[in-house]
Amino acid sequence: MTNRQVDTHSQSDAKLWFSEARYGMFIHWGAYAQYERGEQVLFREHLDQNEYAREARAWKPSRFNAVVWADLARRAGFRYAVLTARHHDGYCLWDSHTTRYTTAAQTAGRDFVCEYVEAFRAAGLKVGLYYSLADWRIPAYWDGPAKDPVGWYHFRDYVHAQVEELLTLYGKIDVIWFDGAWPHSAQDWRSSELVQMIRKLQPDILINNRLGSLPADIDPSHQNADGGAGAGASRELGDFGTPEHHITAETNRLWESCQTSTWRLWGFTRGEHWRPADLMLDMLVESAGKGGNLLLNVGPTAEGELPPEFIERVEQIGQWLQVHGEAIYGSEAGDVCEFITYGRQIRKGNNLYLVIRFWDGRAEMHMAGLETRVQKAVLMSTGQELAFDQSEDHLVLHGLPAERPNSLFPVIRLECAGRPTARPWAVDRLWSGDASRMTMWARDYRE
Ligand code: GLC
Repeated sequence: MTNRQVDTHSQSDAKLWFSEARYGMFIHWGAYAQYERGEQVLFREHLDQNEYAREARAWKPSRFNAVVWADLARRAGFRYAVLTARHHDGYCLWDSHTTRYTTAAQTAGRDFVCEYVEAFRAAGLKVGLYYSLADWRIPAYWDGPAKDPVGWYHFRDYVHAQVEELLTLYGKIDVIWFDGAWPHSAQDWRSSELVQMIRKLQPDILINNRLGSLPADIDPSHQNADGGAGAGASRELGDFGTPEHHITAETNRLWESCQTSTWRLWGFTRGEHWRPADLMLDMLVESAGKGGNLLLNVGPTAEGELPPEFIERVEQIGQWLQVHGEAIYGSEAGDVCEFITYGRQIRKGNNLYLVIRFWDGRAEMHMAGLETRVQKAVLMSTGQELAFDQSEDHLVLHGLPAERPNSLFPVIRLECAGRPTARPWAVDRLWSGDASRMTMWARDYRE
């Protein structure tokens, strides 16, 4: 068997677990947590490099226990996680042989990447590592290959060697998540070679798209769609797209929206606002409904604890997933017909899941434009089977309880006679498609 066949086979397996998983936990944790002002405090506050490095080396998170994190992740219904092995500050969370600027060689004296990988793998989660190409301590990173060819050459070698190390030391890694390619191109980073090396070391791995742009990628609208200029997204390289702070489907490859659980920052920030659980769940439902994943972030404290606000919210979502998880895991894009009045739709096989964002307390619920015949309707939140009438254009569900049956979104499963599709007029929504499809309908009007 050639290498190529092996790669193709394992990559498609990997894509399967990724789509099945739908929900991942992003963990931004590093020495920056000590400042409690986000993960980019070094640059944004133009801090003294040496002082920052001293703080980083002295960082000793005494309450970190990867087993506790992994246990929460499992209970909360996450199926995979991605930990920042190294962020833009360059401080490494593993026992690297390429530098002594690591938690293992300094005060902490621990290999946090190893502890994380072992605990999350043991909890049955897929394991991912985030790695920043950018290292803000290194002058050659800022100067780049044109101004400092020799410095750049050594820096790039260092980056490649670190990636090789991460993908050699800890057994199977399921996702490698690059970031910080800006302002350099994929050629500058030698990203194609990096990808080749990664596939050789870890044939099953999924690689994100932030590997720097190729000439073909120089398209400003695309850069925006893929998570800000700093992301350096590539259309050609990588297995999945990474829309950041927004949920936009990619049509030709897997994608995962990364989102904060607070209003803005990824690393732990004192005084940040927390998003409520329903909003976070809504992001998951929207992602699944559009055929993608949600990578929901947490910034643990400098001591190594997950903030209680995060735990409380994701546990609530986890309880919701225990009852309604079949609508999320392994689901397909599901925006089949008009439903904006009540909520979102997710499809899986012949089932259409109606996720009710707005519960109006009425016994009847109306839905227009579903072509496929419904055979059974179940309010999953209570198990109640619902009576319904279906005409050519309309489905009316009966017997809904006046009180919202759960604290987060109730879900109704429509079991259909085939794969749910829309009536021709309902394939496109209001303000889109061919307007004349509605002419006949307007002709029914009589003065
Ligand atoms: C941005 C930021 C970075 C964060 C990342 C997460 O690229 O530079 O701090 O880690 O988004 O997607």
